[in-house]
Amino acid sequence: MTFQTSQTPTPKKIPENIPDEYRQAISRLLIDENTLQNRIQEMGRAISRDYAAHNPVFVGVLKGVLFFMADLLRYTTIPLEVDFMAVSNYSQESRDQGVVRITKDLDICIEGRHVVFVEDIIDTGLTLGYLLKMLRSRHPASLEVAALFDRPNRRLVNIQARYVGFHLPDLFVVGYGLDFREQFRNMPFVAVLNPGILNQQRTPPPPSF
Ligand code: IMP
Ligand code: MG
Repeated sequence: MTFQTSQTPTPKKIPENIPDEYRQAISRLLIDENTLQNRIQEMGRAISRDYAAHNPVFVGVLKGVLFFMADLLRYTTIPLEVDFMAVSNYSQESRDQGVVRITKDLDICIEGRHVVFVEDIIDTGLTLGYLLKMLRSRHPASLEVAALFDRPNRRLVNIQARYVGFHLPDLFVVGYGLDFREQFRNMPFVAVLNPGILNQQRTPPPPSF
């Protein structure tokens, strides 16, 4: 199940209650809060139907998936369990191959379990491909992907997500958990970042006091 962002009625007004720093850095609102929530509710309903009586384990990778996971769980109305992993990159070279270091592994044993891997956005699919291979080696009963956003034209690894919220254009987006240098995660909608911001040098941290 997919939904093209072109189907969303745009342009939408950027809500008033966001910090000025964020407002200045974004060029336009891409997906508003209502559209996100309605779509995630549909995804939750579909998963509830497909996994009824399966007691699935929802697995997410911190931190981008935080908002999507919380809302998807709320809209999934069957018994389930949830667990998180955290990863970091060894180097740019390993990043280019999708190889990551697991800094926090799952607490739940997934052998024989039905696993729903919940992902914020699939871009090249390199990281996800690596993690799915690792999880498959633990012999789950099944392993499917639920991704809020997908950019299939950027894919380098063949990954088919069973549930996809929205297909995104080739633009860097922030909000609803997605960050640029750790900022913007706490906007309840998804916006396009000004291209100028993406190319800016990292500013030094503010002095501590
Ligand atoms: P890939 O699929 O391995 O290329 O990487 C996907 C990851 O890159 C996602 O889980 C995000 O953390 C990050 N990412 C990709 N596109 C965006 C974006 O437009 N905004 C913010 N983060 C992104
Ligand atoms: Mg991520």
